Amino acid sequence: MGGVFDLSDSIAVVAGGAGLIGTALCEGLADHGATVVVADAAAERGEEIADELGDHAEFLRVDVTDEDSVVEMVETVLDRHGRIDAFVNCSYPRNENYGQRYEDVTADDWRENIDLHLNSYFVAAHAVSRAMMDQNDGGSIVNFGSTYGIQAPDFSVYEGTEMTSPVEYAAIKGGVLNLTRYMASYLGEYGVRVNSISPGGVFDDQHPEFVDRYEERTPLGRMATPEDFEGAVVYLASDASGYVTGHNLVVDGGWTIC
Ligand SMILES: NC(=O)c1ccc[n+]([C@@H]2O[C@H](COP(=O)([O-])OP(=O)(O)OC[C@H]3O[C@@H](n4cnc5c(N)ncnc54)[C@H](O)[C@@H]3O)[C@@H](O)[C@H]2O)c1
Repeated sequence: MGGVFDLSDSIAVVAGGAGLIGTALCEGLADHGATVVVADAAAERGEEIADELGDHAEFLRVDVTDEDSVVEMVETVLDRHGRIDAFVNCSYPRNENYGQRYEDVTADDWRENIDLHLNSYFVAAHAVSRAMMDQNDGGSIVNFGSTYGIQAPDFSVYEGTEMTSPVEYAAIKGGVLNLTRYMASYLGEYGVRVNSISPGGVFDDQHPEFVDRYEERTPLGRMATPEDFEGAVVYLASDASGYVTGHNLVVDGGWTIC
């Protein structure tokens, strides 16, 4: 393969690797030669994806909301492969009340959802970065943010549907983006690069009125597909981005420029 995007000698771990976006990320990383660890709570789906990717992929069960489970994930990958070159935080933990409209969110739900998502992103990135600090040639961490970590939701796209953008999400994703900058600054001297990818909305059979309005408001005229993020993750995991850290790579069809 060769070239700056080549990941043939890389061990890449994707937390949330069995999800809508995570599955495409695992495919993109594997296509560029990486050995991919599909790390997810969903065992059946995760095994399936690892099987489809072939010899250079494996599934590892992890609950990112449980610190012991995260530590075990890191230890298992180090035992099996000796190192972690790239780690992607792409899980989406939430409680059963997540997604309610603003008026109905309780303080308990706010706390729990922030704990499940923002805190688990920290715990995982922190544990992996500690391992990368001990490698003499660093590594790359990619945290998934969102357009809604950069700007407020445009609620008009949800009109006439049951959909909304939860208030917790604004704090979680704003937090993820600034956590990324902190880690990038602190870990630079260890050669550990930390960046984020901020996706726009991914088409997933949402309410047709929402989809129409979302597409109209987006310069590229469509919602994202999971595959739209493959290039971004390969870039940030590989030597192609060797001098890039603390960056938020926005992949949103232009949504946030309007
Ligand atoms: N889908 C979108 O439109 C969109 C837009 C912007 C940002 N994002 C972000 O992208 C990331 C991935 O989103 P997605 O749409 O692929 O979500 P998804 O729900 O399709 O997938 C998330 C994955 O995380 C796993 N997961 C959930 N809880 C877990 C836990 N406790 N431990 C381990 N794994 C767990 C699930 O099993 C699932 O495989 C999230 O950070 C999300 O906020 C998504």
